[in-house]
Amino acid sequence: MVSAEIQQLFNKIDELKPQFIARLAEAVAIPSVSADAEHRPEVVRMGKWLEKELGELGCTDIQLKPLGIEEGLNIELPPIVLARYGADPKKKNVLIYGHYDVQPALKEDGWNSDPFTLVQKGDILYGRGATDDKGPVIDWLNILQAHNELKLELPVNITFCFEGMEESGSIGLDGLIKAEAEKYFKGVDAVCISDNYWLGDSHPVLTYGVRGVSYYTITIEGPAADLHSGLFGGVVHEPMIDLSHVFSKLVDPKGKILIPGISDMVAPLTAEEDARYDNIKFDVEGFEKNIGSKTVIHEEVKPALQARWRYPSLSIHGVEGAFYSSGAKTVIPAKVSGKFSIRTVPNIEPRKLDELVISYVDKVFSQLGSKNKCTCELLHDGDYWVSDPNNWSFRAARRATKDVWGVEPDLTREGGSIPITLTFQNALNTSVILLPVGRGDDGAHSTNEKIDISNYIEGAKTLGAYLHYMAEEEKDA
Ligand code: BES
Ligand code: ZN
Repeated sequence: MVSAEIQQLFNKIDELKPQFIARLAEAVAIPSVSADAEHRPEVVRMGKWLEKELGELGCTDIQLKPLGIEEGLNIELPPIVLARYGADPKKKNVLIYGHYDVQPALKEDGWNSDPFTLVQKGDILYGRGATDDKGPVIDWLNILQAHNELKLELPVNITFCFEGMEESGSIGLDGLIKAEAEKYFKGVDAVCISDNYWLGDSHPVLTYGVRGVSYYTITIEGPAADLHSGLFGGVVHEPMIDLSHVFSKLVDPKGKILIPGISDMVAPLTAEEDARYDNIKFDVEGFEKNIGSKTVIHEEVKPALQARWRYPSLSIHGVEGAFYSSGAKTVIPAKVSGKFSIRTVPNIEPRKLDELVISYVDKVFSQLGSKNKCTCELLHDGDYWVSDPNNWSFRAARRATKDVWGVEPDLTREGGSIPITLTFQNALNTSVILLPVGRGDDGAHSTNEKIDISNYIEGAKTLGAYLHYMAEEEKDA
């Protein structure tokens, strides 16, 4: 049984459903893709849209913090949006972080509808950002509206921190958090992030870990310009051939990383940690359905989850400068940049990893005997994070989740990365929790990204109840 107050909040959220969907539709209609320069004005527009909404919902001290120029692209970074809701010194302060940028999306990638128009089909809302991360971010705003309309006091103060570069490595945010730790963020008692998903499609979770990511390029260059393969094939060292050889030495088809020294840094699996995987509701078949093929490496639950959460992985993403269109162009690309990343876990040290990766790539390339030039560089990296899933913030979230979904949430880690998590924990000396709204099959980063209306609405209830229980829970020593 929930209190009359919380029940009233839940009823209000149900009543406001059409308005909440309309608010999400407005947000999805702004194509705030952080990855490329052409979309940057839209990312900025999205930040300003949030500024306006937060103001209308009664937030104060709203600031758009500039982050300067993005190196390489040479354009202004989108601002960090800061705001406060409530400033009662007697209340606890919860910092809420989310991101307002999205992954790129093109209709021709295989979307059934325009990615930047929120489309409802049955009980599901489709659109880029629906689950990652506009739906959850807007749920936080929805909660403010529900409280305002009920004239219900929120028992904690909120500090909002929304960024527009998460999908591109959170450039600039780290410095801002450190700089504001004793200023805008002074007195923060806990951080809550809703930017991840349930493990499957039916059971709620709370999340106490993410992997980090270190993203590298291998650039191989030879001829001054692209060449005709009829004239020069077999005559010159080809950058693309060299790159294929180097790529093949990074990871084997079963996912084993071939770069020596990395696995030595991985924290050993204790019996206690291993046991945490015993009762998690996850079935590999459902997972295969989700990815649309029977191509998983590990057929058993435990090794599959551990591969995703607590071991590093290496993925090869693409090649810049290579021929990629349809047809059969007989070209020798003059310069190619291969992109790959490593998801990192405790206790991999990022600088040591860079050293291992770069010296290994140099060595493998030198063994090819090619006269081309090869450079391997780190593009960006973000830390992994693992926390105690029993602290006061988790206790509040567990109560909220049980109220709304009627079951105990599973405790999960994530294979993906939210680079800023560890910075919040360390710079603000506070705990962080990941409290997801969406489901594992939402298709974040994929075509036809969606959020179920039930998750969007019940998610708002969960986040709202969480804030109320944060006021009640006793902070850990
Ligand atoms: N929402 C995701 C993080 C995430 C991914 C959580 C998968 C749970 C499961 C976030 O928006 C994201 O995609 N992050 C990037 C960060 C990278 C660009 C540094 C990622 O993980 O690739
Ligand atoms: Zn996200």
